Amino acid sequence: MRVLVVGGGGREHALCWALAGSPLLTKLWCAPGNPGIAEVAECVLVSATDIPRLLDFAEAERVDLVVAGPEAPLTLGLADACAAAGIRCFGPTAAAATLEGSKAFTREVADAAGVPGAHWRRFDEPAAAKAYIRAQGAPIVVKADGLAAGKGVVVAATVAEAEEAVAEIMESRIHGAAGATVLIEECLLGEEISFFALCDGTTALPMAAAQDHKRVGDGDVGPNTGGMGAYSPPPAFTDALRDEVMATIVQPTLDEMTRRGTPFRGVLFAGLMLTASGPKLIEFNVRFGDPECQVLMMRLRSDLLAALLAACDGALTNFDLRWENDPAMVVVMAAEGYPGTPRKGTEIRGLEAAARIPGAQVFHAGTALRADGALVADGGRVLGIAATGKTLRDARDAAYAAVDAVDWPGGFCRRDIGWRALKG
Ligand code: AMP
Ligand code: GLY
Repeated sequence: MRVLVVGGGGREHALCWALAGSPLLTKLWCAPGNPGIAEVAECVLVSATDIPRLLDFAEAERVDLVVAGPEAPLTLGLADACAAAGIRCFGPTAAAATLEGSKAFTREVADAAGVPGAHWRRFDEPAAAKAYIRAQGAPIVVKADGLAAGKGVVVAATVAEAEEAVAEIMESRIHGAAGATVLIEECLLGEEISFFALCDGTTALPMAAAQDHKRVGDGDVGPNTGGMGAYSPPPAFTDALRDEVMATIVQPTLDEMTRRGTPFRGVLFAGLMLTASGPKLIEFNVRFGDPECQVLMMRLRSDLLAALLAACDGALTNFDLRWENDPAMVVVMAAEGYPGTPRKGTEIRGLEAAARIPGAQVFHAGTALRADGALVADGGRVLGIAATGKTLRDARDAAYAAVDAVDWPGGFCRRDIGWRALKG
């Protein structure tokens, strides 16, 4: 199997790392990849959103499978272009990727499928949105409808904060066209879980759950980020809850997408809130989470490539996925300034020492090689330092021992990843 992974972050490093171990693999490329990915795959200098050039490459190299890491190439039609060229693509068509591209679409599909979620209303006009907020009261959630790099959601503690969010999103257009429409949602309370299911259009196979840490600071304070660390499995997400989520959220959504003529193939990422009245849907993503993917790949015992092929070929019925019982944790190291403007170009040392910590694995996210060969920071989230252990505490200790072996004065991390599961 000749495989091309699209993307260049920590998630794609984890995917390449897992694919590299597959007995089915004969050649692995990653576009554009990064210096860590280059240790397990051949990096190709093509942007993850340049669909025509990705297709040219896949055809010229007789690629058997294209694996989409991020959502952007999918919403731009990577899977559709691959299908037209007769190349398998792991990831949904542009139509099915609307489950991530438009929050209003997601809520409509979820309602049609009877999926439990927050009460919501959609507004195309700021005055009406603000009037509704005043009528509902706080806390309340304001969301830009379109893709806003994970920054389009404001969980407002007061009515004034919510009205301000509407003004910024709809009037000042801080997220551009993504803010033409807003959703105002009921604020769900509970523990947040990222759950992943492989889908082949009709069959959904549960993968595993993880818990992300979206706020930048210890104790879950400060602005939202793409995710500062994750662990799997989260003890709050029992097998009974998993079965309930498959039956009430994942399978009904898959059925509804098929009914609409846009079957979903790929990995469905359900962002869930475990509320006092059961698990509720916050949002769908049409890809693996980053950094959740890193801990999933650390725990996956089955052949990832075989699983992705089965999803592409409509062959997930009877497919068996096996997982390590041992927990895994990933701690994200980010460049100073993140999630604002990160400082680029600071030198990173000590990754060999970090990788020598028993159970540890270093994933590159935003790194680059300087002309003199030194490894430097080249993004917001720069490294994902992961580890497994017999217990979550062991995984945490190993991950932070590896973090402490990294010599990077220009970076920072949260020190409390896993706190919900480790408290008490
Ligand atoms: P999203 O981009 O939809 O994942 O939202 C970003 C974050 O906002 C989520 O991870 C939740 O922490 C929070 N959030 C979104 N919707 C709600 C809601 N209805 N109630 C409470 N928190 C929410
Ligand atoms: N870590 C959350 C996400 O990938 O959307």
